[in-house]
Amino acid sequence: MNDGESPLWAGRFSTPPAPQAHALGRSLHVDVRLVTVDVAASIAHAGALQDAGLLDAREAAALQEALAAVGDDITSGRFAFHEADEDIHSAIERGVIERLGDLGARLHAGRSRNDLVVTDLRLWLLAAGDRIDGLLASLAEVVIDRAREGAETVMPGTTHARFAQPVTLGHHLLAHGWALARDRERLHEWSVRASTSALGAGALATSTLGIDPAATAERLGMRRPFANSIDAVSDRDFVQEFLAVATICATHLSRLAADLARWTDESLGWAELDEAFSTGSSMMPQKRNPDTAELARGKASRVAGDFVALTALLQGLPLGYHRDLQEDKEPAFDAADTLELVLTALTGAVTTLRFHPEAMREACAAEGLYATDLAEALVRDGVPFREAHRRTGELLKRAGADGRALADLTVDEWKEFGIGDGAALLDPDRSVAARTIAGGPSPDGVRSQADALGEIVRDPRSE
Ligand code: ARG
Repeated sequence: MNDGESPLWAGRFSTPPAPQAHALGRSLHVDVRLVTVDVAASIAHAGALQDAGLLDAREAAALQEALAAVGDDITSGRFAFHEADEDIHSAIERGVIERLGDLGARLHAGRSRNDLVVTDLRLWLLAAGDRIDGLLASLAEVVIDRAREGAETVMPGTTHARFAQPVTLGHHLLAHGWALARDRERLHEWSVRASTSALGAGALATSTLGIDPAATAERLGMRRPFANSIDAVSDRDFVQEFLAVATICATHLSRLAADLARWTDESLGWAELDEAFSTGSSMMPQKRNPDTAELARGKASRVAGDFVALTALLQGLPLGYHRDLQEDKEPAFDAADTLELVLTALTGAVTTLRFHPEAMREACAAEGLYATDLAEALVRDGVPFREAHRRTGELLKRAGADGRALADLTVDEWKEFGIGDGAALLDPDRSVAARTIAGGPSPDGVRSQADALGEIVRDPRSE
């Protein structure tokens, strides 16, 4: 140790850790973010020590006060960290011992950093999950507002990125909105499982000190205490599941971002990102690039990487605490930070996006968009769908070969095709309005989807 201090385990050792080993093991720069939850967990543990008769009320209160004071010192930047502080847990404990002497030295009874760090990370992720949930709700609200605005805006819907059938802008936007609502649902279900306190599990085998893990869980506002002390200190499935949920959410955000980049592409010109969410080029004066959308898309890969990193860390690891597990925090923090960053920026980009409904409508002049409507008109007259599909295909082939637009076919030609006035079907408004099936693109359908989704977003547990 550079400053001559001994580590927490010095009793059994005659040699201090090599500086290189200490540098490898030190995680303070990462886990300093756990300060608030570590203090909360330690305050709850002091309560457990009091319940067990190991501290009297005055001692417990003094410990709790000192913990809060050390926490304040750290968050306000007044705390002097030592090179010997391995992690935030040991730094806080040192701070308490420096304030209270022997009384401070009683805090770590019946606990280990193994049960403490798991409880800390659960509390931290639960709070991050709440923030992400709020940001998801805000983005979903904006998507719903924009979808209502675009309930009647016709645009070419695509498959394989090729024009397929007319839809409404509102319908397409709500497709993103429903995905966001499912992300919130997943986050909520994860949080119910993650809300488990590990305190009292000790290093792996609890303690002989009669502390009550259920009371500690309750003090922390967590749903339950651990059911098995080895499971409590060994598993990180709550991190892995958080990262899985985060990865799915980031994937959704990347696809929304991809649509923004595509719609604002000058070859389509269906929308325009506000200048505040666009970037210029250092060389080409004319450029206005969709960097916000591209980064929202690109950041999804890092969140997926965080999931993979943690999964690789856990795979094949025998039960019990291993120091490998210290590596769980960086992917967890990174995924949470990245999601918060992307959600906030995307919400701004969608809020300020300017749509160009005329350009979307102009694109609906592509007659191929109505081919399925023509075939379905034949089906409604009793023609088997395969025959209707073939006949429509032939009509398109013939018109294409003759260089004629379907709109210019004569009434007789339509009769020969099998329907009265086919030209009337080459109309995007009519096409979307005819799709009255629930969950479809009609303006009325979009409005009722927006109502239903709006209710879920306002009260996600109402379903
Ligand atoms: N900094 C450690 C971590 O994050 C705390 C646990 C240390 N426990 C131990 N047995 N060395 O995992």
